[in-house]
Amino acid sequence: MRLVASTRVTEPPLRPFATRRVLLGVAGGIASYKTAWLARLLSKAGAEVDVVMTRAATEFVGAVTFEALTGRPVHTGLFDPGRALDHIQLARAAHAVVVAPATADFMARAAAGQADDLLTACLLATQAPVLLVPAMNDRMWAHKQTQANAVHLRQLGYRLLDPDEGMLAAGEGSGPGRMPEPETILAHVGRLLEDRGSALAGRHVLVTAGPTREAIDPVRFLSNHSSGRMGTAIAAAAWRRGAEVTLVAGPLAVAIPVGVRHLPVESTSEMQAAIERELPASDALVMAAAPADYRPADVSASKLKKTGAARSIALTENPDILASTRSARRNGAVVVGFALETDDVVANARRKLDAKALDLIVLNDANEAGAGFAVDTNRVTIFTRGTDEPERLPLLTKHEVADAILDRVEAVLRGR
Ligand SMILES: Cc1cc2nc3c(=O)[nH]c(=O)nc-3n(C[C@H](O)[C@H](O)[C@H](O)COP(=O)(O)O)c2cc1C
Repeated sequence: MRLVASTRVTEPPLRPFATRRVLLGVAGGIASYKTAWLARLLSKAGAEVDVVMTRAATEFVGAVTFEALTGRPVHTGLFDPGRALDHIQLARAAHAVVVAPATADFMARAAAGQADDLLTACLLATQAPVLLVPAMNDRMWAHKQTQANAVHLRQLGYRLLDPDEGMLAAGEGSGPGRMPEPETILAHVGRLLEDRGSALAGRHVLVTAGPTREAIDPVRFLSNHSSGRMGTAIAAAAWRRGAEVTLVAGPLAVAIPVGVRHLPVESTSEMQAAIERELPASDALVMAAAPADYRPADVSASKLKKTGAARSIALTENPDILASTRSARRNGAVVVGFALETDDVVANARRKLDAKALDLIVLNDANEAGAGFAVDTNRVTIFTRGTDEPERLPLLTKHEVADAILDRVEAVLRGR
């Protein structure tokens, strides 16, 4: 049986957005009502959001809505009194530009290099990376002219997020043209802000997350409390840095991050097989899963009945995934293991670093408050091969821990 992750959304990471200025362009499409929520998400994640609306956009949503959500003035006219240099100043201040929705008309103007309103003028004047999020009726999107504009805009270096398939505005049925959800756009803006200059850009990163399940009979299993929060935070952070990320995951309590290729597994041996298959193409492996160490020696084909007496289940040891897949590693691949220890913590971590030929080992101290399973924070110590002193990090969110780990993965990659 394959399990699909729940849609529970965790708080966005602060790192890509804090103290960054995002120019949020809004064109005159019906999806602009969803852009209000995007403005809110960006502000909440710590970005300073400068909203620029086309005249048509103000027909759909009031500028005051965006002003209230961002706490900043909203810009609409190229020729508004006292705002003569807005397009240059806004364009220069932006760390990233996102236009959502990008209407068919806006795409045509941008593709032609026009600068006949504030938003198109900003687009020409900026040197920041730009993400366009087209949204329109499915026939408008499928039109050869719109498709040609999309191709041309990509050639010019703009990123385009393809519209989703689904229900279109009232009475228009369903088809490709829908604006992706604001949470998805937020993740892409995070990538826009982070992937330039990262040693992980274009690299293949394999991450494992969550628990595994070992069947006892058709309705029962052995498992553990791993939620997948740490592994999914690492997968999301690696994708933001421009990596192609594959997440091999047992049943998770959290959502699969945007942009990540998800390979669901159940048992430890399924996880091992998936990793063996993916490793030869991976530049880095981060083993954040908590695979079960043991499985029932026999899986009963039918549900075990109550007998009225005590019973025991014989267990067999599962393969050690890191050790057993070692020969499948690509030359020069960076390998990160996790360890959760309760005693002889430091000595055990060092032993694992050598025995399993790891570059980094991330030690979760199970005795620490705020660390471990099913919480949003973690306190870890990182051991790096070739360095004497382990680094003991303070209590951080799992997003922050993910970034700390990937900073060190990047340093190892740069040194190879
Ligand atoms: C009710 C209504 C909904 C519209 N929705 C869209 C839309 O979703 N996408 C789109 O490309 N154009 C849509 N349009 C057409 C644009 O508003 C029109 O092309 C406008 O000139 C776009 O201007 P702008 O690109 O400067 O914002 C809609 C028009 C109306 C009246």
